[in-house]
Amino acid sequence: MNVDHLPVMSREVIEVLAPFEGGTYIDATVGLGGHSAMLLQKIGQDGKVIGIDRDDEALARTAAKLGDTRLILRKGNFSDMESILHTQGLDEADGVLLDLGVSMMQLKDLGRGFSFNSKERLDMRMDSSQELSAWDVVNEYSERELVRILKEYGEEYRAVKIVRSLLHERNKKSIDTCLELAEIISRSTGRHGKVHPATKTFQALRIEVNSELDELKKGLSAALRVLRKGGRFCVISYHSLEDRVVKHFIRENAKAEVLKQLMKKPLIPGLEEIRANPSSRSAKMRGAEKL
Ligand SMILES: C[S@@+](CC[C@H](N)C(=O)[O-])C[C@H]1O[C@@H](n2cnc3c(N)ncnc32)[C@H](O)[C@@H]1O
Repeated sequence: MNVDHLPVMSREVIEVLAPFEGGTYIDATVGLGGHSAMLLQKIGQDGKVIGIDRDDEALARTAAKLGDTRLILRKGNFSDMESILHTQGLDEADGVLLDLGVSMMQLKDLGRGFSFNSKERLDMRMDSSQELSAWDVVNEYSERELVRILKEYGEEYRAVKIVRSLLHERNKKSIDTCLELAEIISRSTGRHGKVHPATKTFQALRIEVNSELDELKKGLSAALRVLRKGGRFCVISYHSLEDRVVKHFIRENAKAEVLKQLMKKPLIPGLEEIRANPSSRSAKMRGAEKL
């Protein structure tokens, strides 16, 4: 496994989910199978891991890499985990893991149009069979919709300015590549500091294209439904919008005495992990147990 595929906060995931022999676990974002591989080591011959991902390529690579009859891989959105579990003849799970966002493979390997310094076509779909892509959002959404998305999903205070320059350019010709979009944004806002001025816009587009926050809310509710009493879930998120959704979900359900919050503050990766795997640096993990 190369460094890019090190599963984030794997020690903490195992501590929180406490997998046991014969248990059933849902790895709802199986990706390249890093966390699944660790779960498989803990569940004995009779345990099962249901690995879900919306990305065909991730599933194919994980199947080839792990090839284990205890790992059942299914394509789908994690909001559908309940029906995916039922199609396996199972009613409940002992643990659910959500490791949100995109994988390094999607960001770098596949030319999926996520990175602002690439000449790839604006795409950003995790599921390549989905219709809506970032190209459609950038070239076809109205000014109002774009401003809303940039403000809501990117927390971009320069949303109006950026969207005006985007509209100005797309009236001349369509904005086709990541680099074209990033340059339009740089020209509109100027470059200050270390963070690329297109960062927030790209985050907002990705969230819109993949309905990430909606999926997360539905996925958390689905996790709660499929867990047995005493079962646990844990979520690793990578930006504050996601973490906020997870925090509120756990708080509300803890108040209603449906969940027990397992940690008050989110866990974060240690310095050693960040050094070995810099892409883990923004990770935050929260977990809860079903009462
Ligand atoms: C950070 S990666 C997971 C990495 C994985 N834990 C590992 O160890 O290799 C996130 C994965 O979740 C998938 N994903 C994101 N949102 C999803 C959703 N709503 N439903 C299903 N899969 C999703 C992405 O396609 C990506 O492969």
